[in-house]
Amino acid sequence: MIKTFDVATIRKDFPIFETGIAYLDSANTSQRPRQVTGAMMEYFEKFNSNIHRSAYHIAEEATAHYEATREKVRDFINAASTKEIVYTRGTTESINLVAYSWGRKHIQQGDLIVLTLLEHHSNIVPWQILAAEKGAKIEYVDIDERGELRLDQFHKLLERSPRLVAFGQVSNALRTVHQHRRAGMRLLRLQRAQDARADRRRNPVRPA
Ligand SMILES: Cc1ncc(COP(=O)(O)O)c(C=O)c1O
Repeated sequence: MIKTFDVATIRKDFPIFETGIAYLDSANTSQRPRQVTGAMMEYFEKFNSNIHRSAYHIAEEATAHYEATREKVRDFINAASTKEIVYTRGTTESINLVAYSWGRKHIQQGDLIVLTLLEHHSNIVPWQILAAEKGAKIEYVDIDERGELRLDQFHKLLERSPRLVAFGQVSNALRTVHQHRRAGMRLLRLQRAQDARADRRRNPVRPA
């Protein structure tokens, strides 16, 4: 396991970089290291079959490999359960899945959805469709002249208790690395304050 981020060592895992190219479009299509292309070749050459459906040896093998990756991913991102690992084909499908499952259930008329002006359309269109369907409102956080998110605007919008806040970690339009850590901490603090208020409602303090 690599302890530090050793770019030269990691680069050796990607045969495509032996051609000398520099590649900056990873959010669009990421390059695969040897370990991934090797595993894909092994699958196609040894047990290519339909997972979860067919009752013969190679299909069981394919299913076992497929399911084993769920535990690896769970461990890697420190998720509580393998049930939290849902595979999709990419960002657009993932965000649509959240919008049409969680969103349709929880976003109501008049709710506020907060996005930023730096979002890729895969993180805008699903929310626009959902907002139109439910009668929710979308507000966009602006950027300053350096391309950074306007955290002052962001904080003001949070005070309006949005039902959903969605923003990418990095913008590939302006290369802006969002202040997601600070933004996330602010969100957490707000959530805790709201939870505390909800608790007090359930257990009102009675005068002695
Ligand atoms: C920044 C960014 N986000 C999201 C996407 C959409 O990704 P996907 O093709 O996985 O749906 C792209 C695709 O170009 C992108 O550049």
